[in-house]
Amino acid sequence: MATIAETEQDFSVLPELPADVFTAPLQKPAHVGDDWLEPRQTEYSSGDDAIWDDLFARQMEVLPGRAATAFLHGLEKLDLGKGGVPEFGQMSEELDKLTGWSVVPVPMLIPDHVFFWHLANRRFPAGNFIRTRETFDYIQEPDVFHDVFGHVPMLTDPVFADYMQEYGKAGWKAMRYNHLKALGSLYWYTVEFGLILEQGKDLRAYGAGILSGPTEAIFSVEAESPNRIMLNVDRVMRTDYVISDLQPTYFVIESFEDLFRQTVERDFDRLYRSLGQSFTYANTAVIDVDNVYTRGTQEYLLRGGRCSGAKPV
Ligand SMILES: [Fe+2]
Repeated sequence: MATIAETEQDFSVLPELPADVFTAPLQKPAHVGDDWLEPRQTEYSSGDDAIWDDLFARQMEVLPGRAATAFLHGLEKLDLGKGGVPEFGQMSEELDKLTGWSVVPVPMLIPDHVFFWHLANRRFPAGNFIRTRETFDYIQEPDVFHDVFGHVPMLTDPVFADYMQEYGKAGWKAMRYNHLKALGSLYWYTVEFGLILEQGKDLRAYGAGILSGPTEAIFSVEAESPNRIMLNVDRVMRTDYVISDLQPTYFVIESFEDLFRQTVERDFDRLYRSLGQSFTYANTAVIDVDNVYTRGTQEYLLRGGRCSGAKPV
């Protein structure tokens, strides 16, 4: 069976990108190499550290009882609330002892193939900059708070940590099939906006896009508007997504083992061959094959969503 990643691919050095693979033309800053790594993490001011502390405190008011147990344990294990922006080197030492991962600083967005390569080597690229007081509530580009607070705690979970590495290897395969969009959808609905049904009854969020902001942390698990559908990888990879508003649909896993099994054991050669170049399902759709956990009213979206100041109900 041909699984999600090419098992024979060597990721010890950055593989050569095949000539027919398109990647977004990002401008590489002169001071970074082909790995796009910053030589060192930014030095943060006391004002920057205070922004981290305030963001941390705000999240901790809403996350207990809403965030996945693995995430909350990860925050504790890495002591991310000890004050100020965490130091990547020290955090990586702790993380390495737990799951063999590290966190490496990058200058904001990096090309997909480089991002995948770092994941395949159990390195998580994290943005250096932190938002300002003016952009405290909403930023378009992920900053160090989103990347570290949102993503890194889940990397302390051994099964999720393995999933992320497999995802990185899978990226190279998706590029060759020209199906990065479909694989991006899987990332979106799991790593960024995933929900988990703990012990078969407690709905919790594990996605970094949810957990790094207060509104969606509540909306995703409690609001009546969104659909919540049990994860089916084939279905998710055919589903469109929005990046600028709360999600109209979330996909729910039963466990991280379930997520790992569904994705890593799927025959991705067959799946990629069966995919079209555009998404089949709108992000609000509920279809026949769905195992629906809750069917949403979509009231938030029908009232115009974020641009009309609709209440996230
Ligand atoms: Fe993210």
